[in-house]
Amino acid sequence: MSKISEIASTFFAYLKRPDLYPELRRKIWKNIFNRSSALRGKEDAEKWCASLAISEKDFIENVLKTSFIPFEKLFPQEFADALQVQAKAPVKLGGAGSLSVIYYINEFTNAQKTVETGVAYGWSSFAALASLVHRNGTLYSSDMPYLLQNQSEDFVGCVIPQKYRNNWDLYRYADKESLPKIFGKANSFDVVHYDSDKSYNGRIWAYNLLFSKVRKGGIFMSDDIGDNAAFKDFCESKNLQPYIVEFDGKYAGLIIKD
Ligand SMILES: C[S@@+](CC[C@H](N)C(=O)[O-])C[C@H]1O[C@@H](n2cnc3c(N)ncnc32)[C@H](O)[C@@H]1O
Repeated sequence: MSKISEIASTFFAYLKRPDLYPELRRKIWKNIFNRSSALRGKEDAEKWCASLAISEKDFIENVLKTSFIPFEKLFPQEFADALQVQAKAPVKLGGAGSLSVIYYINEFTNAQKTVETGVAYGWSSFAALASLVHRNGTLYSSDMPYLLQNQSEDFVGCVIPQKYRNNWDLYRYADKESLPKIFGKANSFDVVHYDSDKSYNGRIWAYNLLFSKVRKGGIFMSDDIGDNAAFKDFCESKNLQPYIVEFDGKYAGLIIKD
């Protein structure tokens, strides 16, 4: 698809969704005035991540002090079923990060309330819910559908096992609309996992808001922090000491709130 026809299709897809008009306005503004936000400070961020990174096993065993069994080995049947569901999906959605880290941070905090931004097929939701359901906790998720793919909305969260879905509360809007709705339901969280708008400005806005909602002793996590310097700048400006976990050639940042 050429760039022009992609822009036109996106625009018309948004027009059919009045609930996403605020995001359409923001996207137009960003494309005119703030095009460099995606990669701002990427080189520095990658160096910083590489200098601090540890493996998921090190993080789980040495920081969370739990023995590490990979998520797919803890839930082999559910994981195999989820892979089959993904293979049959006719749309290609965003990929998952470290499911083990997501599962174990929910275990570590005895999470009752977790919020995540960015669902796609629902791998991270699956991992959080696998822990939350044992305490009858709730996962609040925000996900704005991919508008360039017909049907993509039908497949948001498709890999989440049916038996977990009573504990899942999904908001299908952009984060700027979803998060206030979620905070109307719950105002403090054991775990926050950020994996949606990856632009520098989008992250800074969401990090400030979401971090303020993490309870003392809870965990804040963001995926893909090497994409730009937002996570690094956020930690430095607030004097926070993050853990950085390398997984599949990418970096996730985690902060245990004092
Ligand atoms: C990388 S995928 C999420 C992957 C998921 N966390 C996992 O581990 O399987 C990013 C998702 O965030 C959604 N998204 C992007 N920008 C968003 C925004 N501003 N508000 C809400 N969702 C957004 C995308 O549509 C996509 O479904």
